[in-house]
Amino acid sequence: MTKPTNNLSTSSAESKIANIAFIGAGNMARSLMGGLLKQGYPAENLACSDPVEASLEAVAALGAVTTSTSNADVIEHADIVILAVKPQVMKDVLTPLQNILIAKKPLLVSIAAGLACDSLQGWAGKDVPIVRCMPNTPALLQVGATGLYATNKVSAEQQKMAEVILSAVGIVVWVAEEAELDAVTAVSGSGPAYFFLLMEAMQAAGQQLGLSAEASAQLTQQTALGAARMALESDVDVAELRKRVTSPNGTTQAAIESFQANDLSRIVDQALQAASDRSQALAKELA
Ligand SMILES: NC(=O)c1ccc[n+]([C@@H]2O[C@H](COP(=O)([O-])OP(=O)(O)OC[C@H]3O[C@@H](n4cnc5c(N)ncnc54)[C@H](OP(=O)(O)O)[C@@H]3O)[C@@H](O)[C@H]2O)c1
Repeated sequence: MTKPTNNLSTSSAESKIANIAFIGAGNMARSLMGGLLKQGYPAENLACSDPVEASLEAVAALGAVTTSTSNADVIEHADIVILAVKPQVMKDVLTPLQNILIAKKPLLVSIAAGLACDSLQGWAGKDVPIVRCMPNTPALLQVGATGLYATNKVSAEQQKMAEVILSAVGIVVWVAEEAELDAVTAVSGSGPAYFFLLMEAMQAAGQQLGLSAEASAQLTQQTALGAARMALESDVDVAELRKRVTSPNGTTQAAIESFQANDLSRIVDQALQAASDRSQALAKELA
């Protein structure tokens, strides 16, 4: 994980605060803006566009962010443009903005799942710097995990700014090759659903063993939180943590042996491979 910095300026020499424009005022954009404002980012340096007034009102409720129904208006003075629209509408969003983007070359930060840099570059224009991100849903609670990839047009300073923005909703990890974002998608992008699936199964199994639905859900959810916190806060890896809670001939060992007999590692390998394959296929479909 790369440690986030608090450098929010476009140039350390000028110390100018970067103007950030969000295209799309949906869940992710609101979460990112909320996170930035909470960290003290000035509202006057944030702008957001969306065709729906009600979505813009929800943004305005976060603070004195400039809002507009025109994408062209909000990017006019932007150093960074966050593309926070669904992948399916990205081409229609970027193509009409191409002239401004080529002239001003703001940093484009795309959070759209599955859209490759080649496609974005084709719609935004040659030479426009692009950072492609793969965030996950817990970003909505500011405990997300985001993988980031920068094209070779992105400066070190711009990389730092992208990192600061995504760090407002959780941790960030840079990858050196764009193809690694398929693995990020398989691990953290889709990852929350794997834990929900395991939690669903544990809740149902707890009920089978005689617990009420409510008790089984409470115990499962708090156990997931506790295990995640132990993994994050411990100075040993998860394999060691598992060994430490597995007494010889105890209850945990009985359960772990049952998981291993059913080849849990192979099941997980296959599931993540399927997610990665689907991520590659989606990029082709969206190109
Ligand atoms: N939510 C997540 O957990 C998550 C995780 C990883 C990645 N992402 C990515 O983040 C992006 C945003 O996701 P989201 O959950 O925030 O989606 P969302 O809530 O649907 O937000 C997208 C917003 O863009 C607006 N929009 C549509 N067309 C537009 C246009 N031409 N110009 C400007 N704005 C336009 C939409 O308005 P309408 O509602 O009127 O269409 C909506 O308000 C997606 O690309 C998604 O793949 C999301």
